[in-house]
Amino acid sequence: MSVHSSEQDYQALIAAEAAVWSAAARDLAAKWRPDWADMRRTRHYAVVDGRHIKQLLRLVQPEWQVLEIGCWSGWLSLEMARRGAHVDGIDVAAEALKLAQTYAAEHAPRGSVRYRLADINYEPLPQNHYDLVVAVGVLHHLAEVRAVLERVRAALKPNGLLFVIDPLDTPTANALLAGALLFLLPTKVRYRDKVRHLLRFRQRVVERMKASIEARGLSPFEGYGRHQMPLEILRELFHVEQFRVYNAFTGYVIANLAMPESLAIAVGHLLLPLDHLAVRLRLLQGLSYKLLARRI
Ligand SMILES: C[S@@+](CC[C@H](N)C(=O)[O-])C[C@H]1O[C@@H](n2cnc3c(N)ncnc32)[C@H](O)[C@@H]1O
Repeated sequence: MSVHSSEQDYQALIAAEAAVWSAAARDLAAKWRPDWADMRRTRHYAVVDGRHIKQLLRLVQPEWQVLEIGCWSGWLSLEMARRGAHVDGIDVAAEALKLAQTYAAEHAPRGSVRYRLADINYEPLPQNHYDLVVAVGVLHHLAEVRAVLERVRAALKPNGLLFVIDPLDTPTANALLAGALLFLLPTKVRYRDKVRHLLRFRQRVVERMKASIEARGLSPFEGYGRHQMPLEILRELFHVEQFRVYNAFTGYVIANLAMPESLAIAVGHLLLPLDHLAVRLRLLQGLSYKLLARRI
């Protein structure tokens, strides 16, 4: 692992990772409850990922044992527990888990939910225990993708399911189109400054767009798992039943629009059919994938 030369460095980096996601959970809580009822109304889920989360929720059966890795403020673990499942949510972000715990205590689900502060890179898991493991937006943050997925496979019951949503790398065409749309549409950057940035960065503008789309530098391990070929590892360790690539530009564009949520959602709904078409015709590559796999 090159990101950290010693155990001490690693601990400092993972603490910084946790601090970023705790702060993000605090910011989110100022506006939205850690509850699917609220999250589904945010622009990202209302437009881009809501359908995939709904598909996941339809799969969850009462009495299932479920593990969510990178559960953050707990909204998805709680919703799965509302379907009658017994859910373990693991995350490194202590404050995010505290929010999750407090909220779940006040809104006790039909099943059960337990949140655990742990680093999934090194956390042992019970063997043959889970019916479903969920990893939404977390594999690309991991230092030890293969080791985690091997432990996840062993933790699943035979025929148990793994559900993953994660980003893919950004081709130049996507960066150019997203950049053009955000140049035209209102964002928190003033139009005068957009022109200034364009003139200032010129050739570097595409690289900067890619970095922004991939949120490079947002947290110490942001994108770290991307370089470990997670898809190859997933295909090697699991039987992939569904794999869908989507979201060529819509998610990033709407995330940056400076407008009320309802208007951003309306713009997202206008862009999404074009996005789907561009991906289907292979004019653009999707920047997200959803995968449903079974333990072999
Ligand atoms: C992009 S966020 C996704 C959060 C949540 N799954 C969602 O979609 O709302 C990534 C989450 O993974 C967590 N995370 C990052 N590295 C981790 C690790 N080594 N062990 C456990 N959780 C980790 C972060 O704290 C953060 O909550």
